[in-house]
Amino acid sequence: MPMAAVTAWQALVDAADLRPGQTVLVHAAAGGVGHPAVHIAKLRGAHAIATAGRDNLDFVRGLGAETAIDHRARPFEDEVAEADVVLDPVGGDVYRRSFDVLRPGGVLVSTAEVPDEAAAKGHGVRARWIENGPNGALLREIVGQVERGRLRPTVHEVLPLAEAGRAHEISQAGHVHGKLVLRVG
Ligand SMILES: NC(=O)c1ccc[n+]([C@@H]2O[C@H](COP(=O)([O-])OP(=O)(O)OC[C@H]3O[C@@H](n4cnc5c(N)ncnc54)[C@H](OP(=O)(O)O)[C@@H]3O)[C@@H](O)[C@H]2O)c1
Repeated sequence: MPMAAVTAWQALVDAADLRPGQTVLVHAAAGGVGHPAVHIAKLRGAHAIATAGRDNLDFVRGLGAETAIDHRARPFEDEVAEADVVLDPVGGDVYRRSFDVLRPGGVLVSTAEVPDEAAAKGHGVRARWIENGPNGALLREIVGQVERGRLRPTVHEVLPLAEAGRAHEISQAGHVHGKLVLRVG
């Protein structure tokens, strides 16, 4: 929560000012940043479109996404247009293509790419970058949402600290859903 959910909150609430009734595209919605982001989109009263792998489509629908797109089966541009906000935790090609699905004046927030100001200007949108730092007040707000059941952390797997190396390998393979937990002691 201190990293993933705080980052998602800073992206959607602080950077993008996501409002009720707006549409947000959350890429990698099954991942560490993506899964709290879908919950936060619902908390804000927004319409959430999620991308995920085929095995995670039901998972992201269960988080509250109204639309789930298998990112390997078809380009998200086929299903998304005029979004108010895009959250990109992937970067690279996903980041560059995301400019095309925003409405004029929309916001592309990335946790993986520094803003491409030239591309943002060319598309008439805004680009933001999130750099998470400690934020006790925000973490308390998020813990309150967890206690009320409105934000549900998902654990992919729990491993002993001695298997931190294996945890890294699982993470680097790129298919974690939720977060990996290392048990200390
Ligand atoms: N700037 C900051 O302060 C900050 C803070 C936190 C994280 N980050 C960064 O944000 C990034 C994401 O972190 P994370 O913890 O959310 O990652 P993660 O949990 O490891 O992401 C894994 C997920 O990404 C999905 N995915 C991979 N490629 C995709 C694509 N092309 N389209 C849609 N989904 C895709 C996978 O889905 P499938 O397996 O279902 O395909 C998987 O569920 C990392 O680069 C991390 O370093 C930055």
